[in-house]
Amino acid sequence: MKNKSLQHELENYPINDLSQVTNLFDFEVLAKKHMSQSAFAYVSTGAGEEITFNKNHSAFDDIFLNPRVLNQAGELDTKVSLFGDTLDYPIMVDPFAFQRIMHPDGELATVKGAGKANTACVISSFTSTSLEDIQQVATTPIWFQLYIQKDKQFAKDVIKQVEANGCRAICITLDSVASAVRNKEQKIGFNLPDDLVTPYKIGRPVPVSWQLVEELIAYTKLPVLIKGIVSAEDAQRAIDIGAAGIIVSNHGGRKLDTAPPTIEALPRVVERVEKRIPVLLDGGIRRGTDVLKALGLGADAVLLGKPIAQALGAAGADGVEKALKILQHEFEMAMLLTGRGSIDQIDSSVIWES
Ligand code: LAC
Repeated sequence: MKNKSLQHELENYPINDLSQVTNLFDFEVLAKKHMSQSAFAYVSTGAGEEITFNKNHSAFDDIFLNPRVLNQAGELDTKVSLFGDTLDYPIMVDPFAFQRIMHPDGELATVKGAGKANTACVISSFTSTSLEDIQQVATTPIWFQLYIQKDKQFAKDVIKQVEANGCRAICITLDSVASAVRNKEQKIGFNLPDDLVTPYKIGRPVPVSWQLVEELIAYTKLPVLIKGIVSAEDAQRAIDIGAAGIIVSNHGGRKLDTAPPTIEALPRVVERVEKRIPVLLDGGIRRGTDVLKALGLGADAVLLGKPIAQALGAAGADGVEKALKILQHEFEMAMLLTGRGSIDQIDSSVIWES
């Protein structure tokens, strides 16, 4: 990871002093210090050799932006509309599991911090806080990430609870039918604490058919996004079964190692989808320039998991708020320096053609 030189300075800062945190990489240093070894290993591990895990971000470094001067008139407008909600920025918090092992306030801290940064959150099926409790503190839209576990009926029961709790969309993750090889977790002997409550987890995700996913899409009133799409063929299938959106994701490099980085996979998916439904992307976003590149290559919005988990582990709600605000500010700077005044002005011409 970058900015290792800051480690020395940051080591001496108390947990609640975020004044020296200037970018998302800094949270990793703090998180390592403040999270338990086992929680940090869980958050910070990729599958196998961690090729995909590392390339997710480094692939952004191989893409250059096209600076433009004096091209933007009026106020900067970073708002986007997604499934009937207006988001202040095309940036959301990814679902990530078991947040109470990362910080005592878990999902509540994430949702509060995100709320202060006007950012919508996707809550994991493996949340360690109930949707009822989350909605008590939420001030921004909450989506739910669904793992299909056990059987169809259990999935339908969870969907009913998701709907009853005012969630705005469901993301069905399809890339996790096999558990992954994660050496850092193995080495540390990662195990969940016995007393961790996970209200919507009764087992592992099970292999399912496209037909079942189609049935669940038809079953719910909510828009359903399919998460974990990398290939254009799967994007087409998702559209065929009625998905309302696609999240281009390789699970943060935590599942199939040597799958392509998501920013590499995005253009093919976007080409196939032809703007019929929104395409979101996660994996490797650490800088505002990364957000701009993803939008330039056709994403409608991006999500971040690991850096938010690290910000949560480092400093709870304040950490999450600060991480998101740093990214929002960086994104605004990147828009201004490429001469874009609003999200609809971001197209492939922000990318430098070599
Ligand atoms: C993981 C699963 C729980 O990545 O989403 O650990």
